[in-house]
This record gives sequence, structure tokens and C-alpha cells, in this order.
Amino acid sequence: MIRRSLLAATLAIPFALPASAQETAKIGLILPMTGQSQSTGKQIDAAVKLYIAQHGDTVAGKKIEILLRDDAGVADTTKRLAQELIVRDKVIAIAGFGLTPLAMATAPLATQAKVPMIVMAAATSIITAQSPFIVRPAQVLPQPAAAMAQWAAANGIKSAVTLVTDYGPGLDAEKWFNSRFKDGGGEVIASLRVPLANPDFAPFLQRAADAKPQALFAFVPSGQGAALAKQFAERGLDKSGIKLIATGDVTDDDQLNGMGDVVLGVVNAGPYSAAHPSDTNKKFVATFKAANPGMRPNFMAVFGYDGMHLIYQALTKTNGNTDGTAMVEAMKGLSWESPRGPAMIDPATRDIVHNLYIRKVERVDGELYNVEFATIPMMKDPAKP
Ligand code: PHB
Repeated sequence: MIRRSLLAATLAIPFALPASAQETAKIGLILPMTGQSQSTGKQIDAAVKLYIAQHGDTVAGKKIEILLRDDAGVADTTKRLAQELIVRDKVIAIAGFGLTPLAMATAPLATQAKVPMIVMAAATSIITAQSPFIVRPAQVLPQPAAAMAQWAAANGIKSAVTLVTDYGPGLDAEKWFNSRFKDGGGEVIASLRVPLANPDFAPFLQRAADAKPQALFAFVPSGQGAALAKQFAERGLDKSGIKLIATGDVTDDDQLNGMGDVVLGVVNAGPYSAAHPSDTNKKFVATFKAANPGMRPNFMAVFGYDGMHLIYQALTKTNGNTDGTAMVEAMKGLSWESPRGPAMIDPATRDIVHNLYIRKVERVDGELYNVEFATIPMMKDPAKP
């Protein structure tokens, strides 16, 4: 036995694989690449590829390999894919999660397997509390909702109707818009909730028009903003004097340029605009566009890009130790310069702390952009004081 293993060891030397090939670190990336939320999947996938192209595929002696899986936005599928990636493929982290229900379904697996779970899109506040292995470079919906309400109340808007998609992030948006708007002296006169799947906004927009508020505050998940804008115009709300205000999910850079004049002047709050005027962002946008002709990066792309940054930074800090607990510890408190501006992982909640920008949709060089004009610096999740 001893002689055989010695012989094997001796023989093995000339045929040894390069060290990098022996030390592959696999990352499971689970995204909705098809279905209603496919723009989120495509944006994040493109940004993850860009990050690796720019930073190399080896970090702290580990060769990074991305295993991309399509969950089509179906929670049972997300969970099954995560299970396979953890058990069969032995991934060192799972990442992605395009919608809240997908992240909620998968969180218990991260806890059981002690595998870091990097949430790159899902934005309901409670998600990070579902597992100590979750770290979220994405936004948290109470942030843009609270920021929008504060701005509206401080800028002469006294009455509003809210229109949100009827699930986690929409309910967060409704709650935080309502409470901050009230604090500022405003009144929400009706709260409307639209189904997540295949929404028809028309009847809700009619009710909003009938209530005659000064403003309509809207949240819909990334990918549905264009449909909302179209129906807003078709119902004539743009001519009714009701001001559309929103979270940046509605005036999403992925779709914004196709929305047309109806969204010109719409004030909204969000953590990222492709028009953010920093050098870091200019380089990000230019390289993203060069690698993905016809696409403009949106906030989801930035959350995916930053999620990769967290994984690379964690592996660097642990000297390549892929233990899940060590990696999550290494991510806590990390701060960096993101294309969105300064960003940090709150060590207490593992949620993002970043700037919230108040923006107005304007035409710049012939294209529609969210142009930032005010900043609430380094905002934590207001739901976790
Ligand atoms: C979510 O499901 O948490 C979600 C998805 C898309 C968004 C925001 C939140 O734009």
C-alpha cells in the first residue's frame, strides 16, 4: 500500500495539473434568464462576465468558475438548483436571486450548508434576516421609497396615491413611502396593489386618476416599468396634472430609453443611474456597452458586478479559504467605490449602505437618462434602525 501510493505520488509529478486547475472555486449563479424577469438575469449575467474579464479569473490562488443556472423566476426551481449546486457541484457560494420569493425559498439551504448567499437583486428588507449566510449588495426597497417620500413632502406635494406590485418589495415600498410622507406632512389618499404576474395596470391607473392626488407614487419590479409608463400615457394620466414619482425600478435604465416622452421629467429615487457622473461609472458603462452591444447597464448589473467584487475581496482577505463562515465574516464591513458611488456592507445586517439619489428623467444626447440632482448619502435600510 505504502509503496503503491509512493509510486503514484512519484508518477504523478510529471503529469500534475497546474495548481490553478486543481483549485477551482465554483460559484453558482442562479438567475431568471427566461420569463417575466429575464432582463434582470441578462443584466446580472453580463455584469458578472464583465467583472471577471476585467479582474481575471483567478483570485487568491483559486480559479473562479461560474455555473450559471436559469430558474425562470420560479421559486421551487431556484431552490432545487441551489441544492444541486451545493451538494453535487460543491460551489463555494450561491449568487443571483432575481426576485424576493426566490431568495426566501433558498435562504434555509444557505444556512444548512453554511454557504454564502449573495443576493444581487431581491430587495425586500427581511431577506437578510432569513440566514446569517446572506450578504446583499442589492438595494433594499425601504431606501428608495423613504427617499422619494422625503423629497416629495419637502417639495410641495401634499397628497399622493401609491401603486405597488403586490408582494414583498412592493409592500415595503408602500409602507415606507407612506410613513415618511406622513412624517413630512403629506397624506396618502389611496394605496393600490397590482398583481406580480402579467399585470394589467389600466384599472388601477383609472382609480388613481379618479382619486385626483397631486402625485402617483409607483413601484414595479425591474422589467415592468415600460408597461406601466405606456398605460399611464394611454389613460391620459400624463395630461391630468398628476405627477408620476417612483422608485428607480420604474425608470430602469434597461428600458428607460424606450419609454418615450411620457416619462420626461419624472422624479424618482434610486441607488444607481447609468448617468452617474463618476469616473468609475463612466468606465463601467463604456466597458459594459462595448462587451454587450445594444445594452445599457441598469442597477441590477451594478449589484451583480459588486456581488462579484464581494466574493473576490472575501477570498483575498481569507487567503483563499473558502469556508463559508470565514467568507461571510470577511464581507462584513467591506467598503468600496462602486459604479453607483460609495458602498458598504453593514456588518450588523449584511445589507448594503449606499447613496440614494433623487433623479429626473431628461433627454441627454438624444437618449433618456435618470439625471441625479440630490443625494442622501450612505443610507442604511431604514427598516433596520
Ligand atoms: C424583488 O423581487 O425583491 C425585486 C425585484 C425587482 C426589483 C426590486 C425588487 O426591481
